[in-house]
Amino acid sequence: MDTTTLTRPGLTGLVETIRIVIGQGLAPEETAHEVAELVRGRRFNPGILTAEERQGSPDGYVSLVLHAESTFSIAAVVWRRGQETVIHDHVSWCAFGVLSGVEYETLYRLDGDHLVEIDRVANGPGDVSGFAPPGDIHKVKNTSPETGVSLHVYGADLSVLGSSVRRVYDLPVR
Ligand SMILES: [Fe+2]
Repeated sequence: MDTTTLTRPGLTGLVETIRIVIGQGLAPEETAHEVAELVRGRRFNPGILTAEERQGSPDGYVSLVLHAESTFSIAAVVWRRGQETVIHDHVSWCAFGVLSGVEYETLYRLDGDHLVEIDRVANGPGDVSGFAPPGDIHKVKNTSPETGVSLHVYGADLSVLGSSVRRVYDLPVR
């Protein structure tokens, strides 16, 4: 599943460098941080998507898989103002970089039958971050008035799994 990669500026180089990082066999969290620095260093802008893709959808945020192979995938997420995820965690490490908009992240900890909010982080254009499960329960919302675009790299093959979500948490927050 490599068909769209070549039409997107900078993506082929990112794929090649991520393969090198993964080949180092680091712990998941270290891999996530190193891949986040690759995303930062390549200074992507929303032009990596077509004008049509950048429109997003009125029905909710859109995740576009730009590249997938056995050990990692790259997806672009397009969020209109106010669009958000449910509370979830992930099957693998994740690195992301914000190209436009603000990804406002709320982090939680599972405490028996409920969740406890533990942190809030606002990531704007140029910000990158990397994390690995466990302890990655979160919700993300575009709180900016403009449509948000972010690049996400997951240590999993989304062409097989379809989604990076391990579990959705429909639990009260106390
Ligand atoms: Fe997530």
